[in-house]
Amino acid sequence: MPRTVAHVVGARPNFMKMAPVFDALAALDQPQLLIHTGQHYDEKMSDVFFRELGIPEPDVNLGVGSGSHAAQTAALLTGLEATVLEHRPAAMVVYGDVNSTIAATLVCAKLSIPVVHVEAGLRSFDMTMPEEVNRRVTDVLADLLLVTSPEAYAHLANEGCDVERIRLVGNPMIDTLLRNRDRFAPGPVRAAAGLPERVAVSTLHRPANVDDPVVAKQIVDALKQVAETIDVAIPLHPRGRQRLADLGLVSGEGIHVIDPLGYVDFVSLVSGADLVITDSGGVQEETTILDVPCLTVRPNTERPITITHGTNRLVTPEQLADAAAAVLQGEAVFPTDRPPFWDGHAGERCAREIVAFLDRLR
Ligand code: UD1
Ligand code: UDP
Repeated sequence: MPRTVAHVVGARPNFMKMAPVFDALAALDQPQLLIHTGQHYDEKMSDVFFRELGIPEPDVNLGVGSGSHAAQTAALLTGLEATVLEHRPAAMVVYGDVNSTIAATLVCAKLSIPVVHVEAGLRSFDMTMPEEVNRRVTDVLADLLLVTSPEAYAHLANEGCDVERIRLVGNPMIDTLLRNRDRFAPGPVRAAAGLPERVAVSTLHRPANVDDPVVAKQIVDALKQVAETIDVAIPLHPRGRQRLADLGLVSGEGIHVIDPLGYVDFVSLVSGADLVITDSGGVQEETTILDVPCLTVRPNTERPITITHGTNRLVTPEQLADAAAAVLQGEAVFPTDRPPFWDGHAGERCAREIVAFLDRLR
């Protein structure tokens, strides 16, 4: 009897990571079950990506929605446990570091369903980040650890993980980027949003940046300073929207606050930008491949390869305006060597490892 592989996704960045793995498993005729937890649920945070990336309708949508970490994780655990008991997949594939990831892993570990973690081993070494907690717990419990970069492999090995559980497969989010390259066109997106040709793009959603009013105000002021030199387009995640608006981040005087964009429009805009200012994990990786200078407003990154092999630089809110000015004056550094295996074939490598893993379970 064919054994089903289930995938759990829930938040925006999960969808771009899952799509190439799902497609590559489908090409191998692997039966699959797609579970959407509903952690993200707005049309512009979820549905748009399924349409644009050709991802099939989820078989199950748990509709857990928002809440405190405890409330959301509790709803995820309860919903996922019932779904996993009903379908009893041969293995569960989880992505990244969001609450849906840790919840699915915990449920499966308790039910003895093997777990595959795509994007394992990333470490910011900053336990104030909810994502760092999620990554560490997921990696302890997962059975197969698929890593995007060599330092992730090293982190897992240093933590005492049996290296037999680890495979370096590359970055499936970059598969999605390369696969859609022909669709990226900045001009029409700029025109639709009323933006000039030269533009900086900013995204912000980390709790440390948008939940703390002191830090958030510093960032708002820095963005306004940047906007004195170049228009700044800000497709704003719903998390910080109200607080940032209350602190003065509103459209006008070179600032353009807009709704979150679909994937093709967002990457189009970024691909034609002079500069990106972000705290997103995925955007650090995408700008590395698009050769767009990226300033990441964080004290650390779990993706240092985007600095060593990419266009990314870490800045404090205080440094942001000067760092942006330096980039706009031509001081950005562009990489000559790309991260290994960020080549558009990570999904296929993930699929091969997952099928081989299932064979070993027999
Ligand atoms: C989550 C992830 C984060 C990831 C981000 C990607 C966790 C702990 N965090 O953060 O790692 O980088 O997704 O975008 O899993 N909201 C809406 N509509 C939506 C979704 C969220 O309005 O469709 C608002 C709600 O007010 C909600 C808030 O955003 O309370 C935060 O959503 P949540 O999923 O808890 O965390 P994110 O900040 O989105
Ligand atoms: N993204 C998007 N529209 C936007 C902002 C981001 O499609 O308005 C995409 C982006 O290209 C990347 C992913 O969302 O593929 C990153 O998600 P996010 O920044 O929400 O989460 P993180 O990567 O920080 O976990």
